Amino acid sequence: MSVRIAVLPGDGIGPEVVAAAQRVLQRIADIGGYTFVFEEALLGGCAIDATGSPLPDRTLGVCEDSDAILLGAVGGPRWSDPSLPVRPEQGLLGLRQHFTLFANLRPVKVFPALIPHAPLRPELLADGVDILFVRELTGGIYFGERREQGSGDSAYDTLYYTVAEVERVAHVAFKAAQQRRRKVTSVDKANVLAAMRLWRRTVHNVARDYPDVELEDVLVDACTMHLMRRPASFDVILADNMFGDILSDESATLAGSLGMLPSASLGEGTFGLYEPIHGSAPDIAGKGIANPIGTILSAAMLLRYSLGLAEEASLIEQAVETVLESGLRTADINLGGQKAASTAEMTDAILAQLPA
Ligand code: IPM
Ligand code: MG
Repeated sequence: MSVRIAVLPGDGIGPEVVAAAQRVLQRIADIGGYTFVFEEALLGGCAIDATGSPLPDRTLGVCEDSDAILLGAVGGPRWSDPSLPVRPEQGLLGLRQHFTLFANLRPVKVFPALIPHAPLRPELLADGVDILFVRELTGGIYFGERREQGSGDSAYDTLYYTVAEVERVAHVAFKAAQQRRRKVTSVDKANVLAAMRLWRRTVHNVARDYPDVELEDVLVDACTMHLMRRPASFDVILADNMFGDILSDESATLAGSLGMLPSASLGEGTFGLYEPIHGSAPDIAGKGIANPIGTILSAAMLLRYSLGLAEEASLIEQAVETVLESGLRTADINLGGQKAASTAEMTDAILAQLPA
């Protein structure tokens, strides 16, 4: 098997964590006798610096010629002045939209070894937290009509959904639930927002195709609380673009660190974009201390969803779990008492758990 993987390291710690994940992917290729052709391209702030655009044409071309995209992170203080006409985040949003990657899968799994790192009482996590967020990614308020006039005294964004947009992402959530614990929690704000009433009605219509899956509706404000009080009760959480963004960051605290969590952004086919959910962490960029696990687990998702290599994906996930159980910790998950591992040391340890 020969596949092409577009590699978009981006800004800040992006290049460091992507390099780590690439080493793991290369090992999987070596073990299986596969050929992974990696092609690097610019995205985000570094692309603005080099070309003036956060998503240059060459980058789009490289991605179009690929089977999957491995991405680090975009953004940083140099490009964050809100008055700038172009921003790094536009590159990421542009990619999601260009490839119609409407379903963003964000698994939040709490590794038992990291329970002491979470701010919640351990007994709330002891039942085993294993949530899959399915976040709508190419619609909603992120992509609705907006108006912004320089320093004018008003601006607006539009929360807009069509039935078709809600249906396709809801199917992803229900299908995922069938492979898991058969429960979907749909998050909305149907008591206030018209687009969210359409959301709820559509999700209920889709649910009829999945009589074996339980459907629960939760208002987003209540959901923030339930996530902290009964995190183990959730299976699949289906949310729109903005609520999914917020709730998935909130849930990352359950896992002990934002640095732990991977994501996959998928459309209709097997093509996908894989990135850790954390940002570019400019404060620690270039120091070699970033946690590579979120990106390494994203690479595992790439193997599973875009390349159909589920066994290899599980090998990586198992390797990460074993290394965490051995006590090795990068700085973000280190409670002190030991020297924190560098990005390279953590990656070496994970590689050491894989077949040579
Ligand atoms: C995420 C990020 C992005 C988003 C930003 C960087 C545009 O927060 O992937 O969760 O809001 O979708
Ligand atoms: Mg976010």
